Amino acid sequence: MELQEKFDAVIAHHDRIEPRDWMPDGYRRTLIRQIAQHAHSEIIGMQPEGNWIGRAPSLRRKAILLAKVQDEAGHGLYLYSACETLGISRDELVELLLSGKQKYSSIFNYPTLSYADVGTIGWLVDGAAICNQVPLCRTSYGPYGRAMIRICKEESFHQRQGYELLRTMMSGTEEQRAMVQESVDRFWWPSLMMFGPPDTESPNSAQSMAWGIKRNSNDELRQKFVDMTVPQADALGVTLPDPALTWNDERGHYDFGEPDWAELTAVIRGDGPCNAQRLAHRRAAHDDGAWVREAALAFRAHEDGTAPVVHDAADAFGDRS
Ligand SMILES: [Fe+2]
Ligand SMILES: [Fe+2]
Repeated sequence: MELQEKFDAVIAHHDRIEPRDWMPDGYRRTLIRQIAQHAHSEIIGMQPEGNWIGRAPSLRRKAILLAKVQDEAGHGLYLYSACETLGISRDELVELLLSGKQKYSSIFNYPTLSYADVGTIGWLVDGAAICNQVPLCRTSYGPYGRAMIRICKEESFHQRQGYELLRTMMSGTEEQRAMVQESVDRFWWPSLMMFGPPDTESPNSAQSMAWGIKRNSNDELRQKFVDMTVPQADALGVTLPDPALTWNDERGHYDFGEPDWAELTAVIRGDGPCNAQRLAHRRAAHDDGAWVREAALAFRAHEDGTAPVVHDAADAFGDRS
């Protein structure tokens, strides 16, 4: 009872809960699920763009894309570390992803069909991520909030590189402009779905907000993203594929159409265009990397003096040929 009161007081004061503090089981479980899902999204999110590293149109574009994809790997690692402070191991988290028991963001189940998609993902997908994540810098769990501060700085670079790429293409040929428009047409609605279902269909949101984990509702964040993005689309010269999109003077916000929620449900269920491919690729990468993990463990055991020195790698790890 006393512990609960202490916890409630910290939340009421907008202070941070730290790993060694007492916390309700539900708070811990919710955080593990949310941070893990976030970490998985960063790692799976490397795939759609990684698809274009080998086909970047110039050395400059390749260097930018490599740096961006590498940042996403780093985000995944900060977040797995933050999640581990809640008492779950990295191995368990990876297993929950690979077995499909935990999800990652639905947006990464869409394919990248042209180089314009690299720009569109930076602009819209990283842009939506920023809207979601900036309030998380003030989330009530200390390690998560601190990881988000660093991540958000890098996300804003991601968004700008995407926008700069699209601007370059929009000042190019007719064909390049058409390529950008086609890409924006495909990514607009899935980007709006990144904020999750409407508030009326999001039963856990109220509890997450009461715990200070979430600071804004799904619909608030979606509105913020639309308001931020429409003027950027105008400056770019692209049309957002929503005939209902208009400025509402009374509300002081843009009105916009309803995303296809049945599509979101299907993609989350596993029936998106790339779900099977993304998980298969991740599993293969995990299996291919097994020797690195074994080698790291053997090296640590050797350093700790708990294992004999092995000079022949085949003896230590078995012959893998
Ligand atoms: Fe990221
Ligand atoms: Fe990013």
